[in-house]
Amino acid sequence: MNRAKALIVFTCASFLAATMASAQGAAAPAEASAPAKPDVQKGGAIAAAVCAACHGVDGNASGPTFPKLAGQHPEYLVKQLTNFKVVPPATTAERPNAIMSPIAAALASADMVNVAAYYASQKLKPADAKSPQTIALGQKIWRGGITERGVPACAACHGPNGAGIPIQYPALGGQWQDYLATELDNFKSGARMNSVPMQTIASRLSDAEMKAVADYAAGLR
Ligand code: HEC
Ligand code: HEC
Repeated sequence: MNRAKALIVFTCASFLAATMASAQGAAAPAEASAPAKPDVQKGGAIAAAVCAACHGVDGNASGPTFPKLAGQHPEYLVKQLTNFKVVPPATTAERPNAIMSPIAAALASADMVNVAAYYASQKLKPADAKSPQTIALGQKIWRGGITERGVPACAACHGPNGAGIPIQYPALGGQWQDYLATELDNFKSGARMNSVPMQTIASRLSDAEMKAVADYAAGLR
């Protein structure tokens, strides 16, 4: 083989290698962006074995200490489960919780996706508003916010009927009022640190306003 011919062979070979590499390169992100389909049946088995005692087998928790998970956006549920875990190098979770943090730590990410898909597929049994005296105040904050204190309308992100907006904004309609008020309080006190917008909003609400808007949201559907 003379030098010129060797060069052509070499060039062809490296062109071919580069083309194949880029074809594989192009195929890889497409595969990566199509995550494994959630397995609702496996999720249901985890729910029945681990979560049902507190959140109900169908995601309708029996009392306000435990949030309802039925019908919630699955991406939001996965985010919360992730936020309950301590993710090194951080030394605390973004949403530390004595009960949920160890439970979340025991779940693999596929378990989280599956159990979230299961609870998202269940039907919410909505709570009712309980406090007629504060409905008007709650509705005012929900629909219009509190302009002079820079509190935006809750409806802007959580929807006029409290259904939320997938994938970022959770549904609040029909959730227990006590749970919603507790979470607003947790955002305000810094016990829950996984949402800068919610921490800011809650820091501008009084206790009475939190209770009123939580009660109004519980009655939405
Ligand atoms: C022993 C009771 C208990 C068990 C068992 C339990 N949870 Fe929880 N869960 C709680 C409590 C209490 C909270 C509220 C924590 C807070 O106030 O931040 C919660 C909150 C959550 C939230 C946040 C909901 C929201 O609206 O932000 C998710 C998601 C969740 N749990 C999923 C699960 C899953 C999935 C399982 C089973 C693998 C499970 N939990 C098992 C008690 C429990
Ligand atoms: C700019 C958008 C935005 C506005 C406006 C907003 N929220 Fe939120 N809210 C969020 C997001 C995002 C989350 C989820 C945070 C997370 O990822 O944990 C959230 C979460 C919450 C939660 C926790 C739900 C749960 O299941 O734990 C409560 C309660 C809540 N918001 C109440 C309110 C109230 C009441 C208002 C009006 C005063 C309001 N939000 C206005 C974006 C918003």
